[in-house]
Formats: sequence, C-alpha cells, structure tokens
Amino acid sequence: MLLTHANLATFGANAPYGLVPDGAIWMVGACIQWIGRMEDVPRQARDGESMDLCGRLITPGLVDCHTHIVHAGNRAREFELRLGGATYEEVARSGGGINSTVSATREASEEDLLGSALSRVDALIAEGVTTIEIKSGYGLNIDSEIKMLRVARRIARDRSVRVVTSFLGAHAIPGEYAGRPDAYVDEVCLPALAVAADAGLVDAVDGFCEGIAFSKEQIRKVFEAAKTLGLPVKLHAEQLSNLGGTRLAAEFGALSSDHLEYATEVDVIAMARAGMVAVLLPGAFYFLRETKLPPIDTFRKHGVGMALATDCNPGSSPMTSPLLVMNMACTLFRMTPEEALAGMTLHGAQALGLSDCGKLYAGARADLAIWDVEHPAELAYRLGFNPLHKRVFAGAV
Ligand code: NIG
Ligand code: FE
Repeated sequence: MLLTHANLATFGANAPYGLVPDGAIWMVGACIQWIGRMEDVPRQARDGESMDLCGRLITPGLVDCHTHIVHAGNRAREFELRLGGATYEEVARSGGGINSTVSATREASEEDLLGSALSRVDALIAEGVTTIEIKSGYGLNIDSEIKMLRVARRIARDRSVRVVTSFLGAHAIPGEYAGRPDAYVDEVCLPALAVAADAGLVDAVDGFCEGIAFSKEQIRKVFEAAKTLGLPVKLHAEQLSNLGGTRLAAEFGALSSDHLEYATEVDVIAMARAGMVAVLLPGAFYFLRETKLPPIDTFRKHGVGMALATDCNPGSSPMTSPLLVMNMACTLFRMTPEEALAGMTLHGAQALGLSDCGKLYAGARADLAIWDVEHPAELAYRLGFNPLHKRVFAGAV
C-alpha cells in the first residue's frame, strides 16, 4: 500500500517537526518499506495499491506511555471532596484514594475489568493511539495483580493496539498491611512480581516513591528484584514532594521517571547521564490542581527527552484524550506544540524502550495517524475536537 500526497512529520533534523511536504509512505506488510518525497517514489511502489491523502498530515501513531487504564469504579465522590478542600494526600490517608479503587478492582471479574477498560482504550484509539502502556497496581494482592495484567494482555488481542505492561505492585499499601509497608513488599509485592514475570505478563517494573506510598529503600528492593528478573524499571517520582526517587531510578538505569513536578536540576542531570526519559503528566497536574511546574527548561538544558501521557486513572487523571494532554502540555507547562507531538510519539516510545515506533523511517512499524489538519501545531491547538482521518496499525488501515 502506497500512501501519497501527505505531509509527513518525521522528526528528522532537516525542518521543524522533520516535516516532509508532499511526501509518500510505502508500506509492505507491517512495516514502512520506504518514505520520502512524491517525486522520488520507487517504481515498484507505484505498481501496487495506493491511497491519495490530498495533503493530510501523517504522524507516527500516538504512544500513550503511562496509563492505569485497567481499573474498576470511579472516584467522582473523591473529586467532590477535593473540590470542597480535602487534599489528594488527605483522601489517601483516610482510606480513600488508590485504596478505594483497589477494593473495586479486587471485586470486579476479569470480564468486567476488560469491558470497562476497552471503552477507554477505544477512546484512545479514536485519537490515533497505536501503543498503550498499562500498569497493574490496583490489585495489591497476588491474584488481583495477575488479573489486571491478564486483562492488559487481552486488550492487545481484542483491539488493534500494541500493549506494553508494567508491574506496579508498589503503588500503595493496601488496608490489610496498613503501617506495615515492608511486610507488604516482602510478602505480596515481590512474590506477585515473581509469579507475574514467570507467566510472561510483565514488560517492566514500576513503583510509586512518595510519602503516601513507598520509601526509596522499599523501592530499591523492588528494583533489585526487577534486575534479577532482567526487567527494566521506571518510577512515579517527585510528584508531591522530593524523596530522591528519580536518582534511585537513574542508579538502576531506568527507562523513565514520571510526574517530576518536584524534580531538581541534580535529578535532571542524573536522568541525562542514565539516558532516561521524563514522562510528564499534565492531566494529573491539572486534575489535582497542582501549582508546582515540572522543570521544563532544565530538561531542555540537559537534553532529557520529554514524553507525555494521559496517566488515565480514576483518581488523579480520569482522561482518555492524548490531544487534550498535548494542549495542556503547551498551555500549562509551556511546551511547544512540536515538543508536545514528539512527547506523544518519539519520546513516548523511548520511555517504553521501543525503537520500532514513535518515529517515521524506513524499517519502522507502519503504525501511523493520519490527520485532517494542514499544520502539526493544530493537533495541540484545538480543544475537544478530533481531526483523526484514519489510523494505520501494523500496516493495516
Ligand atoms: O499516576 N501517582 C500515583 N499513581 C497514579 C494515581 C493513582 C490514583 O490516584 O488512583 C498517578 O497519578
Ligand atoms: Fe501513574
């Protein structure tokens, strides 16, 4: 299949967005065989099927590299409480927060979890997402963590989307272990990780390093276990305070550190040295009405790639719109529309350790989003409008 007369956002160094005007993409099987200007299309490519895109924009398929999209219930009541003055931490410490989603998720059947997750996944797909990272972390016992990860794998079978899983057993301390976080790590989190990894359900290991969650020492234990299993790590860190989680993650050569509102320049330098990606979550910043901005200029200064994601979850970011995330990244974090698009493609893929997507080049997977826009800045510019024309997943339109 040859896609013709499109503007291509390749993120090459030649132009802003790596824009190739009046370009073409030749797809063979699940891959991009050739990409370039219309006048250079190879002869064999012209012999097959083709589709005239009449000047539309092609970007890499979007990558949502941080989601908690598998969960049951919602936290609208907690939203009301927070608007009435309660803080996210107060709600969590009074037994609500993540633990209320844990109760709902434990009770839900695998079928129900799958059904509710698919409706959210469909919203992401409708806005051009082709790769989704999905975390466990609302089970917090062995069976329920496994249940969540099985649902995540089933999503990739039921929809034309690529799923990358993260084990997030160190997300919160469940009620039955209140005040005994070390016992939880030893008796539940580490054994659950071993079982899940053995079942082939884990692509990476995540944690939440925060006053309301786990200390650096507890996360270190989880990361050591990941290392033994040969799994990459990443961390929710520096979201509500600075506990040094990012520097710990850097020590383990983590893929990313996520949230990062309270990260310092020392943290950013450690990330740069370790080749980590900064995963920024403007939906959570907005929804929790945070005021401390992540250090965007410092990431730029040290060349740390900035990825963006929905963080889709019922407590801090109940959102399923990557385009709105891009808009928020520009309006709230002052990222440029070009950085926002790279955050949802190029750097999102990097944050997952994937090199075959997130960028348009010959040899990459043919995961594409085709947009009814003239200029890529329009993707971050509009609110509540979806200009997706078509989506291509592994070469299939
Ligand atoms: O990424 N920060 C921790 N975890 C989630 C929130 C989960 C929840 O509140 O249910 C996040 O924001
Ligand atoms: Fe998260």
